[in-house]
Amino acid sequence: MDFLELAKSRCSVRNYRSEKVEGEKVEKILLAAQVAPTAANLQPVRLIVVQEKEGLNKIKKAANIYGAPLAVIVCGEHTKAWTRPFDGKKTVDIDASILTDHMMMEAAQLGLGSVWICYFKPDIIKQEFQLPDTLEPINILAIGYSTEGPADPERHMTQRIALKELVHYEKF
Ligand SMILES: Cc1cc2nc3c(=O)[nH]c(=O)nc-3n(C[C@H](O)[C@H](O)[C@H](O)COP(=O)(O)O)c2cc1C
Repeated sequence: MDFLELAKSRCSVRNYRSEKVEGEKVEKILLAAQVAPTAANLQPVRLIVVQEKEGLNKIKKAANIYGAPLAVIVCGEHTKAWTRPFDGKKTVDIDASILTDHMMMEAAQLGLGSVWICYFKPDIIKQEFQLPDTLEPINILAIGYSTEGPADPERHMTQRIALKELVHYEKF
C-alpha cells in the first residue's frame, strides 16, 4: 500500500478486541518511533510501553484508552529538548508528536488500530508512573485490534477542510 492509501485508510479506533498485540508488531512500532526525526536530533522523547494489567489500570485512572491492550505513553524530556533561540520556543511537543505519528502509521501498516490521546490527566500519569519532574507525558497512543471494519478511505472529503482552505500558495 502506498503512503497516501495507508494514511487514508487509518482512522481512530475506540473499540478494541482484548487480544494482545504480538511482540514482533510491538517491536516494529517502537522501531518506527526510533527512526523519527527530532529537532537538532536531540531526541528528547522517552516511551513507556504498557501492556500488563497493572499498568493499563494505572493509565485508566488518567485516561480512557477504550479497552486497548497496548498503550504507549509518549513523554518529553524537557532538559534535552531543543529551544529556538529567537523566541525560546521548545520543540518538545513537536518531537513527541512526530514519534507518535510514526508509531500510529506503523500500527496502521501492521493492520492494527490506534487512537492518539491527549485527553488525560498528566498529574495522575506522572504520579502513577513515578516520572521525574522533567519528564512530561505528552501523548498516549492506544493500540490494538479494532472490533470494527475498515473506515471509508474517502471520508476525508467531508471530514476534513477543503484543500483550498488548508493550503495557501505564495501568500496567506
Ligand atoms: C493531538 C491529538 C489529540 C487527540 N486526542 C484524543 C483524545 O484524547 N481522545 C480521543 O478519543 N481521540 C483523540 N484524538 C483523535 C482525534 O479525535 C481524531 O484523530 C480526529 O477526530 C480525526 O479522526 P480520525 O483519526 O479517525 O481520522 C486526538 C488526535 C490528535 C492528533
